[in-house]
Amino acid sequence: MNVTLRGRTEHFRTVSFDTKNNSVRLIEQRLLPHEFKIVATKNFRETARAITDMVVRGAGAIGATAAYGLAQGALAFRGNNLEKFSAHVAAVYQILADARPTAVDPVNAMNDVRRHMARGETVAEQQALARAAAEEFANEDARHCAEIGAHGGKLIHSGMKILTHCNAGWLAFVDVGSATAPMYAAQAQGKKFHVFCDETRPRSQGATLTAWELAQQKISHQIIADNAAGHLMQRGEIDLVIVGSDRALGRTGEVTNKIGTYTKAVLAARHKIPFYVAIPLSTIDWNLKRGFDIPIEDRHESEVLGAWGNNSRGQREYVRVANPTSGARNPGFDVTPAELITGIITPMGIFKPKELWSHRRKLGFAK
Ligand code: MRU
Repeated sequence: MNVTLRGRTEHFRTVSFDTKNNSVRLIEQRLLPHEFKIVATKNFRETARAITDMVVRGAGAIGATAAYGLAQGALAFRGNNLEKFSAHVAAVYQILADARPTAVDPVNAMNDVRRHMARGETVAEQQALARAAAEEFANEDARHCAEIGAHGGKLIHSGMKILTHCNAGWLAFVDVGSATAPMYAAQAQGKKFHVFCDETRPRSQGATLTAWELAQQKISHQIIADNAAGHLMQRGEIDLVIVGSDRALGRTGEVTNKIGTYTKAVLAARHKIPFYVAIPLSTIDWNLKRGFDIPIEDRHESEVLGAWGNNSRGQREYVRVANPTSGARNPGFDVTPAELITGIITPMGIFKPKELWSHRRKLGFAK
């Protein structure tokens, strides 16, 4: 999307690949909204660390980062022994897959890259195929998000107040975003609406990233405390909820998303407010049979016990908020059952969650 800094507007992708230097270029998301900076990872281990440390985050963005990371690792291999090369690629794959557990996009993206690589007969051929397949994954992610916008934009009418949770914007993908795509499409059609961004504690992706994105795109918005949504719903101040997902189960229609999403879905159902989830195809897990089996990332307690921000000197600083002798529990995601979801906005159209399985071929499941 376009970013305007000091009066200059430029288009950026969240993730891209620098072929000359064999490095993955990332927007350093931990610094936003205070500083806009691009960083480059020197090797696949650094790329994996950037995913773990949340330099880059969001399902599609870490999917593309893992795809590029796999290509980066493959391209760093020296020699022409195909067996040794395959063992090396398998090790790179595992390190990137282990970087964060909940989103399925990195694994789907890397499986895709490996499928393409298998067509090559030499190390050099497979390296070139890895590079091309990673680029295609990134391009497809951006295309899918634009298509989500085309379908989801129809749900938005002028005057609406929309709630979103966490950041499923372009920073969470290669470009455009999933939950924000319908908003950007509706804005392009001249519709006027207002967005409430859940703050999304503990890491505040709503307050820092979604709010920054919407401000950059000049979309009317306000940040609300995570606990405020019920009150606003009760007063008729929310007409529509759109969120993203890190893993949607193709067999059951259950959806994993940032912690707090389930609570919002329960509230939306209580108030009969439509609750939509926007996903590209790489977010669908066709294998798992129940939401309970989705690996939910347990994150460090420091995220709950305090917060990061910029101090008055403009320096990034962590402040302890909680009682110094207390510990915390910090699950990063939750699972929303299918019956609480009005529809899933995909690049192929809007489906009821339980319709994903019957439309699996159209939605890219090969079997
Ligand atoms: O922990 P994060 O920031 O990587 O979590 C991912 C998310 O931003 C959300 O869960 C988002 O709503 C879905 S990812 C497109």
